[in-house]
Amino acid sequence: MTARIAVLASGRGSNLQAIMEAIAEGRLEADVVGVFSDRPEATALSKVASSRRWAASPRDFASRAAFDAALGDAIAAVTPDWVVCAGYMRILGEDLVRRFSGRMINIHPSLLPKHRGLDTHARALEAGDLEHGASVHLVVPELDAGAVIAQAAVPVQSSDTAATLAARVLEREHPLLIATLQLLTAGRVYERGATIHLDGQCLFTPLRLDSAGHLSP
Ligand code: GAR
Repeated sequence: MTARIAVLASGRGSNLQAIMEAIAEGRLEADVVGVFSDRPEATALSKVASSRRWAASPRDFASRAAFDAALGDAIAAVTPDWVVCAGYMRILGEDLVRRFSGRMINIHPSLLPKHRGLDTHARALEAGDLEHGASVHLVVPELDAGAVIAQAAVPVQSSDTAATLAARVLEREHPLLIATLQLLTAGRVYERGATIHLDGQCLFTPLRLDSAGHLSP
């Protein structure tokens, strides 16, 4: 069955682009039914037809709750199976998260639980991490704290700057997000009792992306 995917994005949209390429190439049986943004100028929006875009500026709303309610209504209107936060940079309120609980995922540029929040690449360098990377996790009200489904690791090089490290992580984010969506949309990965399961087996650590772009425990 073709999965209906709603994507939330605030900027460039390279992860959205990766999803759309995977769909076009038959690697992901899904349809991007809507792209939603808190930044009407976001490049990500231009990747889909105007009929599939929703964007609004939080400044134009009386409160965070009012913006979240409008965003939530717009997402609900496209009846998504999955809501994918792909570079969505605004904190999601608890009511909005609960509305899509269990079917909202986020891609975050660190090996969670390390470096929740912003500036993850600079913080990995400052911490002297030998390994950095990206995680796909279920969204819960606490920031970047939901169950981690899958990760891609990238070795840190002594010559790295935050920008070079970010670029290498981003290259791995795209196959990580696609491989995770393949498993989620096929129903092979799911959360039960706050634990991620793959093919009925409980996972004690997140799935890891190998160099061929496959996920395994
Ligand atoms: C990605 O690196 C993603 O992991 C990060 O924003 C970038 C978006 O790139 N997300 C976060 O930092 C969320 N806290 P993209 O717009 O090219 O997909």
